Order: sequence, then structure tokens, then C-alpha cells
Amino acid sequence: MKFFFAPLQGYTDHSYRKVHNDIVGGIDAYFTPFLRYDGETLRNKDLKDIAFENNEGVNTVPQVIAADTNELIPLLDTVQNAGYSRVDINIGCPFPLQTAKGRGAAALAHPDRIERMMNELQKRDTLKTSVKMRAGFENASEGLRVIELLNKFELEFITIHPRLGKQQYKGLADRKLFKTMKELSHHRIVYNGDITELEHIDEITDQFPDLYGIMIGRGLLARPTLAIEWKEGKVLSDAERLKTSLEMHSRIFDRACRTLQGDQQVLSRMQAFWEYQKPLVDKRIYKRLMKTTSLRNYEEAVRNLY
Ligand SMILES: Cc1cc2nc3c(=O)[nH]c(=O)nc-3n(C[C@H](O)[C@H](O)[C@H](O)COP(=O)(O)O)c2cc1C
Repeated sequence: MKFFFAPLQGYTDHSYRKVHNDIVGGIDAYFTPFLRYDGETLRNKDLKDIAFENNEGVNTVPQVIAADTNELIPLLDTVQNAGYSRVDINIGCPFPLQTAKGRGAAALAHPDRIERMMNELQKRDTLKTSVKMRAGFENASEGLRVIELLNKFELEFITIHPRLGKQQYKGLADRKLFKTMKELSHHRIVYNGDITELEHIDEITDQFPDLYGIMIGRGLLARPTLAIEWKEGKVLSDAERLKTSLEMHSRIFDRACRTLQGDQQVLSRMQAFWEYQKPLVDKRIYKRLMKTTSLRNYEEAVRNLY
């Protein structure tokens, strides 16, 4: 069974992915946060994130988000020109900035657009496609209809996050609904949603022994060793986990200081690194890491974690 690191806009940039891959491992492929096309060009930041030299040695799958083929085509050209032979299509993002433009989960309510995009993808025979989707935008019948539509196309696999777009991140991922979608699909299926403990991986693999893979997002941000601990059957202590996080931190911090401009940018990047790791860090130090506006203060707080 494969383990995939979910894309998380603002958290899993190339620097994070490379450091996680080098220091922790246990992940078969890292998915980039979605690339989008807003008319004229792509954002420089997104291009850097998929640039070959920034992803060397890391099994990276670029992800794109598009409302229809007019947005999809320039994105696919970019991905292929950057040297990739794989792409992941996002039809699950619930963020209103994207859904208002018909992208992400909003596309689930428009199977005609998805069909056009899939036809475009099938024309590109050197590009292997996977899809990451939710269970629907407004209701689950939308997701089921899209699963049936996707049965007509050749895909590497489908990752299903069994929540509705309108739910955003409320409630729990609905494993019963996941089962229904999985059974309707002819494709290999990857489970995604709310895996934060080793036991959750046991539950999912017991319930769905024929899964192609598991994709984990926030659970890995909170516990970067989650997949490797499960794979190796070795539970790490809090102290061991903090040590690993500090090793990751030191490399991500060095790079942030070299490549970002000004204390504030570096601080926001590093605060995102700690955000999901709150339970691992002493309360008072955590507060200081998250509240400080000075890099010197920040570095001193980090020293207190050793
Ligand atoms: C801050 C944030 C950013 C995200 N960015 C993306 C993204 O760029 N592409 C995507 O497909 N999903 C994105 N997601 C969704 C995650 O990849 C994942 O599907 C979701 O968090 C559920 O999995 P988890 O419970 O393991 O985190 C994002 C989620 C969060 C919370």
C-alpha cells in the first residue's frame, strides 16, 4: 500500500517536501499544492515550486486546479514543459476563492466540464493522470455521478476525501460514503481524510484491504513520522519526535532565511511549520513561537526547545 503526502497550500512547499523526504521518509509520493491559471500567466511562486532543481530526489506529482479546459491547457503545458509525466487534477478544493471560479469542489456539480478536461488529458499520452476529489459540492449524488463518469477514462488512481465541498473541514470524513464511492469506481482508490493516529491507519487498512494507498495531510504536518512509524512498526516517543521536527526545522529555517525577504516572511513560514505541531511543543514556548514579531526572539524560543 502506498503512502502519499497530501498537498497543503501554504505548508507543503518544495522546501518542506524535500526536507521531509530526506529526514523522515516513508512517503511514496508528494503532491504539490495546486497550480492555478488566472488568465495571463502562472504565479512565479508556483513555477518555482515545481521546478526540477527544487524537487530533485523527491518523487513529486504536480497538482493543478481548473474550472475548464481553457484553464487546464496552459497548466498541463507548464507541467509537461517542466519535465513531469504525471499530473494530479484537483476537483475537491472547498476554498471559496477557488469554488467561486468554478474550480475544485465546485467542478463536481458540472460533470460536462470534468468530461471536457478528461478528454483533454487523454489526448496527452505521455502524461499520466490521477484525480483528487471530494464526495460532492452540495450533495453526495454529485460525487457518485463523477465517479461513474471517471470510469470511462484511463487514470492512475482516484484519491477520495469523503466530505462535501460545502462542509469545508467540518464534521468527520464519512467512511461509509467512501466505501460506496470506492465500490462504484473501476479505478484504484486512495483514501484521504482525518488520519492523525497510527490506529487510524490500522482501521482504514483493515476496513479496505484492497486500497491502492492512503493520502495524509494534516496528520503528517502534526506528526511528520506518522507514516514511517506505521511502516516500521516502531512508535516514537514525544522526545524522539521533537528531535526529528527540530532537524527538519533547522533545514527549513536556513532555507527560509536565504530565500525569503524580511523577518515577517520568514516568521510566517516558520509559524506554519509549528502550527499543527502544537501538542508536541511546550505551551509557553509555542505561544512565543507563534506570537513573536522578531526573528531574534523566535530563534531564542526555538533554542529553548532543545
Ligand atoms: C490549509 C490547507 C491547504 C490545502 N491545500 C490543498 C491543495 O493545494 N490541494 C489539494 O488537493 N488539497 C488541499 N488541501 C486538502 C488536503 O490535501 C486534504 O485533502 C485534507 O486536508 C484532508 O486530509 P487530511 O485530513 O489528511 O488533512 C488543503 C487543506 C488544508 C487544510
